[in-house]
Amino acid sequence: MRLMILFSFLMLFAAAISVNAATARIEKLPFGKTADGVEVDAYVLTNASGARVTITTYGARVVSIVVPDRLGVMGDVALGFENLAGYVEDTAYIGAVVGRYGNRIALGKFALDGKLYTLATNNAPNHLHGGIKGFDRVVWTPKSSQVNGATRLQLTFISKDGEEGYPGTLTLTVVYTWTDRNELKMQYTATTDKATVLNPTNHAYFNLAGAGQGDILGHVMRINALRFTPTTVSSIPTGQLRPVKGTPLDFNKPTAIGVRIGEPYEQLISGNGYDHNFVLNKPAGKLGLAAEVYEPTTGRVLRVLTTEPGVQFYSGNFLSGATGKDGATYPRRSGFCLEAQHYPDSPNQPTFPTTILRPGQRFSQTTIYEFSARK
Ligand code: GLA
Repeated sequence: MRLMILFSFLMLFAAAISVNAATARIEKLPFGKTADGVEVDAYVLTNASGARVTITTYGARVVSIVVPDRLGVMGDVALGFENLAGYVEDTAYIGAVVGRYGNRIALGKFALDGKLYTLATNNAPNHLHGGIKGFDRVVWTPKSSQVNGATRLQLTFISKDGEEGYPGTLTLTVVYTWTDRNELKMQYTATTDKATVLNPTNHAYFNLAGAGQGDILGHVMRINALRFTPTTVSSIPTGQLRPVKGTPLDFNKPTAIGVRIGEPYEQLISGNGYDHNFVLNKPAGKLGLAAEVYEPTTGRVLRVLTTEPGVQFYSGNFLSGATGKDGATYPRRSGFCLEAQHYPDSPNQPTFPTTILRPGQRFSQTTIYEFSARK
């Protein structure tokens, strides 16, 4: 009898393990073909609990993130499109890895080692997110794998010398890892054959109540920053690091995004809402907390950790009603971004941490989006 009980117990245990092993998986799906005939795929990374992330090779974009709410109900918290066509039309960098330079370079010009470089001014009068055909609009080379139960997708892009005006052939790899703890880990590494500037980030838009489920103004935001980089009317940093204390940009105490967004503070007026780089209150290069967001109706929580010195909090001010997955629409402020990065316009700001990458150096940055739910 005792042996029987032990045997049944062992069988149950084995079944539990095999269920887990069977559910953590990676699937590849066709996603479309570019105008010049390149096949684009999407990879679905599913963890042991059934939570999943979809990433496409076009722009290394995060297409969806399906995670549980406080009752265990799964919901897609990332804005995105059904297929490649939606991304080709998109102008909001939805879910993309942006670069070479995430955010703006003033007037599309910078000097490096005494030489002046001119980039596209695709956000007049400035350069934004890598230019006309940035990393968000190219097809990356994929390699998927499963390591210690976690699913991984490695994406590589080789950006040629002179592409979009940037010097040096740059090889950039982003490894997305989706863990059983609902963490989406992004590890960027890069090398170059000539001195260049580099500031890649992920431009996912989140709505923790569910993509397409209204605006994000009720999300409660905490940003781990005592200072931010104020900007001019054309969204270029003035060079100053201004204390957030006493301004509507103080998110040290968790505050709903919508509470102060309409205040007549000069930075919110010129930014059309929140569109600012925060100086993270942690040692440079060390992985630490950037922000934590809580959505009260579903209990979902997003924590962003990064090795980067800054995070751009953007409240989706320019979203303008595109139709996304399942026919959902994405109007103004229906998603927010937390773009872990170096500060905007660093190539022209000698006091900001450097974004120069030289031959022989290896660039690395790690950012984690960690999902959970609170009762
Ligand atoms: C960044 C910029 C914004 C805007 C969005 C994309 O967050 O700072 O001004 O360009 O990307 O629309």
